[in-house]
Amino acid sequence: MTQIQAATSAETKTIEEMLTASGYSQTAIDYYINKPYMGQIPDADITSEMTGTCGDTMGIYIKMDNGVVGDAKYQVMGCAGAISAAMAVVDLIKGKDLDYARTIDDGTVFKVLQEIPVKKHHCIQLAVKTLHKALDAHRLQQSA
Ligand code: FES
Repeated sequence: MTQIQAATSAETKTIEEMLTASGYSQTAIDYYINKPYMGQIPDADITSEMTGTCGDTMGIYIKMDNGVVGDAKYQVMGCAGAISAAMAVVDLIKGKDLDYARTIDDGTVFKVLQEIPVKKHHCIQLAVKTLHKALDAHRLQQSA
């Protein structure tokens, strides 16, 4: 292990400990640290962007494939709660159709994350609202 790798893993451990102490589950922490779906999809079919009342901003990018979500990503400029919630939303919608995606609410995401601090529940709302804004815009576009 190089010095830089050792420092990075020590830093990750510190972050994990801090998040655990603040009330995040290991699942939520893993989403935050690994950020598996962070980024943009340049040729996305469905997108939206939202800023929460806290000032944090996120955008969602969905690429459809044969009637289901083939790929999805979030670009998040926000807190650990926002990032973990956004990553959980992607795991929920990948491989599913848009009717299913429309059924996702705060409770669905909370079940995946298991535990995040009460003060961070609005971060889940931001991830869900961003998804629904994108789905509503897409539906409007399709019916035009
Ligand atoms: Fe703004 Fe978490 S504090 S989304």
